[in-house]
Amino acid sequence: MITQKDRDELLRLAREARDNAHAPYTGYKVGAAVLTAKGNYFSGCNVENATLTLTTHAEGNALTAAVRAGEKSFKALLVLTDADPPPFPCAVCRQSLAEFDRGGMLILAAGTAGIVRETTLSELYPEIFGPHKLAIK
Ligand code: THU
Ligand code: ZN
Repeated sequence: MITQKDRDELLRLAREARDNAHAPYTGYKVGAAVLTAKGNYFSGCNVENATLTLTTHAEGNALTAAVRAGEKSFKALLVLTDADPPPFPCAVCRQSLAEFDRGGMLILAAGTAGIVRETTLSELYPEIFGPHKLAIK
């Protein structure tokens, strides 16, 4: 479980990240923030690219920021857009999250006014393909 303070902070950070999104091609700005098992927060925004295919997503960039700081265990991810209803992470981002979680992670979708709905990674991605599937000894 996460606290109301966690929710408020995830929302604040995702809003702040979204303000810095680089989305000149779609105009669709996304912000994301993660809460780590240690209780720290990291955020990311989408960064589009003129090649279009090199665009990176807000959720993946928030994960990358956390990994850069040495954190690989997560309690929650919040994704924020101004779409109504705000979407949950896309399939690519679900796979990125699966690298670090077997499904228990709380996923929150927010509009600019606040959190609208929530679920878990296993709800969004039931048959997770994660590192455990490789069974490398
Ligand atoms: N986008 C994200 O940042 N996260 C998602 O999960 C879905 C899509 C971005 C990519 C692109 O810059 C814009 O939203 C429209 O697809
Ligand atoms: Zn995505």
